[in-house]
Order: sequence, then structure tokens, then C-alpha cells
Amino acid sequence: MNQDQQIMILEDKINRLEKELDKYTKEDKIKDDILIQQSKMAAMGEMIENIAHQYRQPLMEISTLLINIEAKIKLFGSISNDETLEMIDKSNFVLKYLSQTIDDFRNFFTLNKPKEHFAVTEAITTCVNIMKNTLLNENIKLNIIIKENCKIYGVKNEYIQVIINIVSNAKDSIVLNKIQNGQIDIKLYEKNNSCIVEILDNGGGIEINPIEKVFEPFFTYKKQNGTGIGLFMSKLIVEKNMDGVLEVSNQQNGACFKVKILK
Ligand SMILES: Nc1ncnc2c1ncn2[C@@H]1O[C@H](COP(=O)(O)OP(=O)(O)OP(=O)(O)O)[C@@H](O)[C@H]1O
Ligand SMILES: [Mg+2]
Repeated sequence: MNQDQQIMILEDKINRLEKELDKYTKEDKIKDDILIQQSKMAAMGEMIENIAHQYRQPLMEISTLLINIEAKIKLFGSISNDETLEMIDKSNFVLKYLSQTIDDFRNFFTLNKPKEHFAVTEAITTCVNIMKNTLLNENIKLNIIIKENCKIYGVKNEYIQVIINIVSNAKDSIVLNKIQNGQIDIKLYEKNNSCIVEILDNGGGIEINPIEKVFEPFFTYKKQNGTGIGLFMSKLIVEKNMDGVLEVSNQQNGACFKVKILK
């Protein structure tokens, strides 16, 4: 074989290799695209689950308000304008929260979320407004003890979601264990330059060992419709988005959750 022939064969080989490489690169690109698409779908699925989770309590609150109107009309034959307006006001408040929640979840995966300084009492008040009637319906007393009102920095609505999740779990525990004098205490105080919200219930405590398991994703115990998202999401918000700590312990009559955020 002369030199020219050898060169021709080599060129042919290079050509074939180039074509093959091109084919593989294209296939790789398609595989990458599929992977990106799949992870986007997974993130979206997760987001939808979180929204669904966070919608349950406020929807329950609106439903309770409507049931109250219905009961009054059935019982007394009518309802006053003042009472109707009050119910509308309360419903509007909860609806506004629902709308804000959707916006917050849309921002959940982006970096430039609208963070702000806010008073913790404001967040607690919103939480109380969203849970008031549900707790009343279950005969649960809510005590709020404010020692210091501090301001913290973060996405206000995310923080509210955390408090709602914890209070909602406390309510579940009291209902599940059929506690007669159900009681939830929310304490707000400052310690070591941190703003601490403590939520204590008398539902009997957490029966899981080790207790930190409650923060694992999809961990749910003894609940009919539990998803196990609530505390996992709460820990993520407090510790990743707010540089805080979310702790749990069992006290004499029930569980105690502490949300600590550095001031
Ligand atoms: N205050 C509490 N008292 C007793 N057990 C609790 C309390 N809070 C949480 N738990 C336990 O921790 C588990 C996990 O809570 P989490 O909020 O993550 O999920 P869930 O409440 O089961 O489901 P979902 O939030 O979807 O309703 C609960 O199933 C419950 O067993
Ligand atoms: Mg929960």
C-alpha cells in the first residue's frame, strides 16, 4: 500500500469517527434534556404538593366560617348584615393569605425572594386568624404569651407557614388523642440574641424514637390524611432560608417546638 492509499484510509477512518462522535454527542444532549425535563417535573410536583399541603388549613377555616353562617340561618331563620359582613371580612383575610401563598411558592426556588424585616407578633396574629375557628370548633384553647416582640428578617409568609404547620400538628395530636381540655400555648421571647417562638400542646407528646424523625420527608404517623411534608418543609424554611433552628422535645403533657431565628 502506497502512502496516498494509507492517507485515504486514515481520512476515511477519521470521517467515520467524527460522524460517530457527532451521533453520540447528539444522543447525550437528548439524554441531558430529558434529565433536565424530569428534574423540572419533579420540582414542580413537589411544589404542587407543598401548595396543596399549605392550602388545607386555610380552606378548612373558610369552610368553618361558611358552616357557621349556614347553622345560624337554619337555627334562627336569618343572619344579620353585621355578622355577614364580619364573615366576609374573615374569609377575605384567609383568601388573601392563600393568594400570597401561591406567589411565595412560585418564588420558592428562586434566589431573589422578597425578604423583609417583620415583627413576629404580626406573623403570629396572621396564624391565629387562619386557625381561630378551626381551633374553636375542636374546643381547643389558644394562649398567646408575648414577653418581647422582636423583628426578624426573611420571607414573612414562609415563616407564617411554619407556625401554621406546627400549630396544626398540635391540634391534630389533641384531636387524635381525644384530649378534653385541649390547649396550645404560643410563647414569644428573646434569648441569646435570638427570637424564639415556642409552641406547646397537651396532646400527649410525640411517640417516635428518635424524636427528630418527625422532620424527615414523608414521615407521618397515625394520621389518616398525613403527607409527612409539614415539618420537613418547616425545617427547610427555618434552617435553609432563615438561618435559624427548629427544635422539638417532649414535655410533661405534650410536644414542644421551638423556632429560633437570629435577630
Ligand atoms: N405536636 C405533636 N404531637 C404529637 N406528634 C406530633 C406533633 N407534631 C408532629 N407530630 C408527629 O410528627 C409527624 C410528622 O409531622 P408532619 O407535619 O411532618 O406530617 P403530618 O402532620 O403527619 O402530615 P401533614 O403535615 O401532611 O398533615 C406526625 O405524623 C406526628 O406523628
Ligand atoms: Mg403536619
